[in-house]
Amino acid sequence: MNSAAPHTSIPVLTIDGPSGSGKGTISRLVSQQLGWHYLDSGALYRAVGVAAGWADLDLADPAALVRCAFDTKVGFRDDPSGELRVLVNGVDATDELRTETAGAAASAIAAIPEVRSALKDRQRAFRQAPGLVADGRDMGTVIFPDAPFKVFLTASAEERAERRYKQLKDKGVSVNLDGLLREILARDARDASRAVAPLRPADDAVRIDTTGLGIDAVVERVLQLVTP
Ligand code: DC
Repeated sequence: MNSAAPHTSIPVLTIDGPSGSGKGTISRLVSQQLGWHYLDSGALYRAVGVAAGWADLDLADPAALVRCAFDTKVGFRDDPSGELRVLVNGVDATDELRTETAGAAASAIAAIPEVRSALKDRQRAFRQAPGLVADGRDMGTVIFPDAPFKVFLTASAEERAERRYKQLKDKGVSVNLDGLLREILARDARDASRAVAPLRPADDAVRIDTTGLGIDAVVERVLQLVTP
């Protein structure tokens, strides 16, 4: 499958935004409420980053990383509690994918144009009936430019760092809030300034600033776009 064309009648809701904007949580809840499929595109980049780590590849060797992007098998599966588990080459790597190390590797490899191309068709293949909620950075701009529904979520860097801090603390991981804020700002700068598919809202995306908003309020606003 080389383009999105065969699927244009299947609706897609794209939800793009920076890390910590709430994209993952919101996208998943919205997809469950609509009964649509869900694509966590960041997990694909993270999976390639993790697979590259397992294979001891050099993050400065683009050719090896592109091969890795083509070769890495990524599977998604709902566990009985409804949590999305991610399998990398058949191994459940859900927890490893969430680490800052995996995020930083994903951000670095995501800047390589050939890696992005290697993952394009895989992402478009998620467009299946009755619909798709696609979560990422370039869902509305590059992967599904014809999507009828597009959202761009933002939140202040401070609030995003605090959300991440709470998540990690709940998991028993000891972290430093200032360090997290610095990492978030660095990742934002890298994702927004890269030459290929930089993080930016599609011209036709509805922007929602989630600073100070609860999850339910954001879910409701997004659902209103699809089923007014
Ligand atoms: O959404 P996330 O934090 O899981 O994404 C991890 C990294 O992957 C992020 O730094 C940028 C990159 N990414 C991307 O470039 N394009 C996407 N569609 C999704 C993620």
